[in-house]
Amino acid sequence: MDLYEYQARDIFEAHGVPVLAGEIARTPQEAQAAAERVGAKSGGVVVVKAQVKTGGRGKAGGVKVVKSPEAAAEAAEAILGMDIKGHTVKTVMIAQGAKIAEEYYVSFLLDRANRAYLAMCSKEGGMDIETLAVERPEALAKVAVDPNVGIDEAKAQEIVDAAGFDDADKPALANVIRKLWDVYKAEDATLVEVNPLVKTEDGQIVALDGKVSIDENSSFRHPEHEVYVDHSKTDPLEVLAIERHLNYVKLDGCVGIIGNGAGLVMSTLDVVAYAGEEFTMADGTHPKPANFLDIGGGANAEVMANGLDIIFEDAQVKAVFVNVFGGITACDAVADGIVKAYDILASHGKSPKPLVVRLDGNNAEKGREILDGAKLPLLERVDTMDGAARRVAELAAQH
Ligand SMILES: Nc1ncnc2c1ncn2[C@@H]1O[C@H](COP(=O)(O)OP(=O)(O)O)[C@@H](O)[C@H]1O
Ligand SMILES: [Mg+2]
Repeated sequence: MDLYEYQARDIFEAHGVPVLAGEIARTPQEAQAAAERVGAKSGGVVVVKAQVKTGGRGKAGGVKVVKSPEAAAEAAEAILGMDIKGHTVKTVMIAQGAKIAEEYYVSFLLDRANRAYLAMCSKEGGMDIETLAVERPEALAKVAVDPNVGIDEAKAQEIVDAAGFDDADKPALANVIRKLWDVYKAEDATLVEVNPLVKTEDGQIVALDGKVSIDENSSFRHPEHEVYVDHSKTDPLEVLAIERHLNYVKLDGCVGIIGNGAGLVMSTLDVVAYAGEEFTMADGTHPKPANFLDIGGGANAEVMANGLDIIFEDAQVKAVFVNVFGGITACDAVADGIVKAYDILASHGKSPKPLVVRLDGNNAEKGREILDGAKLPLLERVDTMDGAARRVAELAAQH
């Protein structure tokens, strides 16, 4: 989960990373009022900054330095509503203006391949760090961080040495780097990036921009991160799925997929995509998976009903494939679940879509008997995964 710059600024401040005053505004009037307050500390100079979850705002015209509250209102007027790389600006931050002497770069990220963290640091920060990384990689220091140790005094020293800072600047920079590491660790971040980290004309080190991504798997220990979840950006079906505690990802095809176990669902997506190549829809495309949905090992009737409901709600879905391998939850229990799910959906006045069910594994025979006996409308049973994938692709192409 990516945070907005103003959220990163607040987190930095809470962890003692030096930042400048900043307030958000959603209208030019709010921007003007914020500029009165924020600018009081910087001789009236403030920076109006687009709050969008993408980089390169400066280049796109989304960062403007102004000298009065009236000019801040004008800048906000121009920036609000702007499109930056497909992101519409709905909020701006009015930040205190800094007198920049030098711009540096610092980031920490997860280095999955090496099972470690990676710190990157450069004396040449500012807007074009990506270009720097490609054209002059030697100017961007990369230092591996042992997850068991983190960034202690010695590691912070190693980072500032590797980046080649002046000796006089090293202690203050090492200090800020350690505070940024506190952010990374305490907030369970997967990325903390400061570009630019600046030295001001009076020699202070300040984080002027901040990019923080938080590992959502840590949400159970960070109830305070809930405020960062941006529901407006998410697909409405995904929001519904989150409310129902379902492991659902919307894709753009027309074959709904339900399976028990993430691995089985992943391979079901592959098999359906492969089978779909054989069939052509009215618009000339091939049937493809419409979603990922793993209902897990212990799925009961209610979970199955919730899952089917979300998939039937997807207007793009033309046919559904329920692929279950009975394990701890045996196939007869899953079959009961499907039958009850039909009852639940019917009681909500919802009609089913063509459904292909493949049951295998523990108690498969019993499960199949239950499904056959129930004579559910539009439901077909196919006992092999490939056969079922082929049939569901065919049904999707027909509807
Ligand atoms: N508070 C500030 N005071 C003065 N200049 C700033 C301030 N914030 C940003 N800038 C300048 O604008 C540039 C771009 O801003 P930044 O926040 O890094 O946005 P982005 O990385 O999206 O372009 C910075 O490199 C810096 O030179
Ligand atoms: Mg930046």
